[in-house]
Amino acid sequence: MTKTVAVDVADGVAWVRFNRPDKRNCMNPALNREMMELLAALEFRADVGVLVLGGEGAAWSAGMDLKEFFRETEALGLGAMRQADQECFGWWRRLRWYQKPTIAMVNGWCFGGGYGPLFGCDLAFAAEEAQFGLSEINWGILPGGGAAKVATELMSFRRAMYHALMGERIDGRTAAEWGLVNEAVPLEQLKTRVAGVAARLLEKNPVTLKATKDAIRRVGEMTYDNAEDYLVRAQEAANSFDDQGRREGIRQFIDEKSYKPGLGTYARRPAYAD
Ligand code: ACO
Repeated sequence: MTKTVAVDVADGVAWVRFNRPDKRNCMNPALNREMMELLAALEFRADVGVLVLGGEGAAWSAGMDLKEFFRETEALGLGAMRQADQECFGWWRRLRWYQKPTIAMVNGWCFGGGYGPLFGCDLAFAAEEAQFGLSEINWGILPGGGAAKVATELMSFRRAMYHALMGERIDGRTAAEWGLVNEAVPLEQLKTRVAGVAARLLEKNPVTLKATKDAIRRVGEMTYDNAEDYLVRAQEAANSFDDQGRREGIRQFIDEKSYKPGLGTYARRPAYAD
């Protein structure tokens, strides 16, 4: 637990939260540093199989802190601005390639810079009541720090352009329809839904989860032939980390007939239970 970031670990899940509720969890340089330290501390812990990123209070994150991240940092000059950029880009990048699957649990406001960690998380679930917006245009900047890229990665061109130019809010349901999140549920069901998804992920082979999440992020930018080649090599690399997993998966289906891969996951003892 730090000043700006909160965490509880339970049953294999690290429940990390933005923790500046009185500032609607906007990201100041201290939060960006503390979040990076926390992610690093959790990444290879055996008792953490899935990381969930939520927000304390009414917000998920109201984006970058206009006072501390912009005004006060800009007053210190170019070097300070670049450093502040690298600190937030750094933890968003770390999330994108995190060792464990990550889930954004968007409980409330999500603006601008919040789209960086939103995209950093592999999956995203929102409260229907949550509000999303690229509000940069409303106060006079372009959607930088990756936000424009996130919008075009996740939404159609027309929706991304409208969202960025108009600076209007959309609710969780529309965010799901537009592809910003996987699903929206009423706020009171959000944690239960996310816990259910996390529990399903924890049943799966962790080496395979990491190989799969990286594959889905990487192949989108590859030609078909490059993707085909990358995926062969990625599977071979995964086999060298865990050669027993897929053999066991085949054995339980073909020999033991104890499960069907089309209907569920083979039985394995999760690392976090040790
Ligand atoms: N930067 C700095 N301070 C912020 C931010 C922010 N992004 N968001 C909220 N705060 C502060 C407010 O200044 C206020 O501080 P104070 O108590 O010292 O006056 C406090 O958090 C509470 O905010 P309110 O505006 O009073 O809360 P309310 O619930 O009425 O509104 C809302 C919430 C809609 C999120 C509003 O705070 C807001 O519009 N915030 C800015 C959202 C935004 O556009 N973020 C930047 C996106 S662009 C980017 O990230 C690059």
